[in-house]
Amino acid sequence: MLYSHEKIRGVTLKNRIVMSPMCMYSSHDGFVSDWHMVHLGSRAVGGAGLIFLEATAVEPRGRISPSDLGIWKDEHIEGLRNIVNFCHNFGAKVGIQLAHAGRKAEDYNPWERESVKIKGSKDAIAPSPLQFGNNWHIPKEMNKKDIEEVQNSFVNAAKRAVEAGFDIIEIHAAHGYLIHEFLSLISNHRTDEYGGSLENRERFLLEVVKKVRNVIPESMPLFVRLSCVDHVEDGWTLEDSIHLAKRLKEEGCDVIDCSSGGILESEVVNAYPGFQVPYSEKIKREAKIKTMTVGLIKSYYQAEEIISNNRADLVAIGREFLKDPYLPIRWALSNNIKIQIPKQYLRGWF
Ligand SMILES: Cc1cc2nc3c(=O)[nH]c(=O)nc-3n(C[C@H](O)[C@H](O)[C@H](O)COP(=O)(O)O)c2cc1C
Repeated sequence: MLYSHEKIRGVTLKNRIVMSPMCMYSSHDGFVSDWHMVHLGSRAVGGAGLIFLEATAVEPRGRISPSDLGIWKDEHIEGLRNIVNFCHNFGAKVGIQLAHAGRKAEDYNPWERESVKIKGSKDAIAPSPLQFGNNWHIPKEMNKKDIEEVQNSFVNAAKRAVEAGFDIIEIHAAHGYLIHEFLSLISNHRTDEYGGSLENRERFLLEVVKKVRNVIPESMPLFVRLSCVDHVEDGWTLEDSIHLAKRLKEEGCDVIDCSSGGILESEVVNAYPGFQVPYSEKIKREAKIKTMTVGLIKSYYQAEEIISNNRADLVAIGREFLKDPYLPIRWALSNNIKIQIPKQYLRGWF
């Protein structure tokens, strides 16, 4: 049931409703701002079982925009910890999505994109020197030293996340960002051990997961968000995702967060309600690993159907949460489901 507990390693979620990671472009030099406290804190007040912070950059050149949240230095920890502590007061667990934008790093904010002649970042790095789209900077091909450096940045970011008190870490390996760029043949034309065969393309992510798992507590769940398919001819497939999910499980990953797309600017996605649920369902069944689904989940009945029919263990919600921070409480009240309401609001609701 959607409003039942879910235990993953040492963490118990009070329900299966998760706020999906969403970039807020509201940071300066990677630091959290008041916006983050209000934005994330209100979803904790609103009854979410788990709240994910947005794609949080493990190094400055891995930012999607200059206003991205970051976790590349120790000074970032305190602000993150304040948010985690506030959310914990309302029984929500808090996760952080560790990310590197790769060739999709951009030197300007999204609202400035229209006026930019050559898109992307002149400092972008990627597995291969291939553009995301026409009029994008050509990224620098990563050498072995770059690979080691970025992997270490993920490890150090994970250590900081533990120090900040996060309950869960998610590695962002989706949406055409750096790790996905290693996975997909569309963006990875390497001829060394990080390119070519499926096993080689999986290597960068598997190494990151192994190294991160080694520095976080045994009791801490580790999620990986995948683009389960590329929506592009000759791209990454669901069969590839199943293969990868099995290997991720062996390395100590607990949940595959099943998204899709993002590898090419020209890609066209046919999105409709629940369109990514079949990915979650198949990976859960074939790789025998817990899954989270996401994408155009808009109603209580839709979410309940997914969980109760065992098509995913968790349901992540993005845009509906932007419209209503109190979505879990609202769904519960309108379906006669018992839910704890913050004492500050009790007189208003009853
Ligand atoms: C404003 C916004 C920012 C997003 N930022 C991220 C992000 O930081 N990391 C990520 O993995 N997905 C990101 N996404 C994708 C969402 O997490 C989610 O997968 C997507 O919106 C589909 O779910 P929905 O239909 O419930 O919105 C973002 C989506 C939106 C709308």
